[in-house]
Amino acid sequence: MRILAIETSCDETAIAILEIKGSKESAIVSIWGNALHSQVKLHQKYGGVFPMMAKREHAKTLTPLLLEVLKEAKMLRYQQLTTYNLQKKKVEKILEREGELAKELIELLEKIEKPKIDCLAVANGPGLEPALWVGINFAKALSLAWDIPVIPINHMEGHIFASLMQSADKRRKDADGRRKNSPLSATYTITLPPFPLLALLISGGHTELVLSRKVGSYKVIGETKDDAVGEAFDKVARMLGLKYPGGPQISRLAEEARQLGHRMSKLASKRPFPLPRPMLHSKNLDFSFSGLKTAVLYTLKKMENKNPDDISDEIKCALAKEFEDAVTEVLLAKTKEALAKTKAKTLIIGGGVSANKNIRNSFTELIKKEFPKVKFLIPEQSLTTDNAIMIGLVAYYKFNAVKKYSKNFIAKGSLSL
Ligand code: KG4
Ligand code: ZN
Repeated sequence: MRILAIETSCDETAIAILEIKGSKESAIVSIWGNALHSQVKLHQKYGGVFPMMAKREHAKTLTPLLLEVLKEAKMLRYQQLTTYNLQKKKVEKILEREGELAKELIELLEKIEKPKIDCLAVANGPGLEPALWVGINFAKALSLAWDIPVIPINHMEGHIFASLMQSADKRRKDADGRRKNSPLSATYTITLPPFPLLALLISGGHTELVLSRKVGSYKVIGETKDDAVGEAFDKVARMLGLKYPGGPQISRLAEEARQLGHRMSKLASKRPFPLPRPMLHSKNLDFSFSGLKTAVLYTLKKMENKNPDDISDEIKCALAKEFEDAVTEVLLAKTKEALAKTKAKTLIIGGGVSANKNIRNSFTELIKKEFPKVKFLIPEQSLTTDNAIMIGLVAYYKFNAVKKYSKNFIAKGSLSL
């Protein structure tokens, strides 16, 4: 089956076209097209994502991305006249709040043939509601114009499923058959892992432990009481004068500290800023990262050089490492407890923060040493942050389960699993 998936929940605009063949237990996923536009640069000067700006940028970018992805999938055929009823008036009505989007999309749809796609998928939450709405309205407009169903997808379920994709190792090629400069593979295999499955989801908006006994059924058994891990990474980075998104930057500094090791000055190599490990010994599976972030703030306040620009790189590296170690230790301890409690047969880590090298290595080590029978899945680097491929993948599992497709679904900023 062929799926066109759309993702606009935060600051990435993404459209992917997938072909998935096989059964629900085991299938081959071919990435026919994957177009992604990151708004990071735009939001950087504000130190975080600006919802209305994200919405405007999604609206501007979606039609060009659709053109790009159809071209890449070799599904773009121009025609003189529209040979199907694209229901122009209704499409205009659906997109009436999205600025130029209606005009641009209709202009494109009038020029091109209807692609052979079986269903559309779109993230409808959680995320920034104004941003989610653009993707949803775009998907509904395409569904109407092309007369194909659209399935709303939970973005977090997408982060769980991204881990199932195992590269079949053929490099993607561009339209001319040349290797494309992309870290993604052309083909992946997906196999359903043994259940119960435990997922640790760590992103900019979420930190939760989720237990699943079958596809589509999820129970949150632990979650953050305040900041999400990614949010804490971003805020600490800001305190150190680093650009948004801070996760990768903190990770880079911490890595530097680990490599420098004893070559650092006496002060920096001696764990000069011990930070707390919040909720490490609480009797539940919940997390809290706001205190840790505040502890970094107090540490910085105590320093002579209060301006981030005046703090030496060595000190920044040492602090980044201590922060990353504190986060990793708490995530490991809670997950260990959850694995023991639930007797889960599979552990999945997903969400943007799962790109973090120290977290990836520490979990790999933990499973190898203490839970060798548990199947451990982590998405490949290129699939850790937001993308449309993971949204399309969930749609594959939902396609039969949802017989009737509702076009009345809405954006839900705090949609839970
Ligand atoms: O899943 P995601 O792309 O978007 C949300 O759904 O939130 O996650 C984004 C988050 C950001 O907070 C970013 O700083 C964090 O993931 N992140 C990282 C790393 N790469 C991205 N955090 C720590 N280490 C990284 N290498
Ligand atoms: Zn995400």
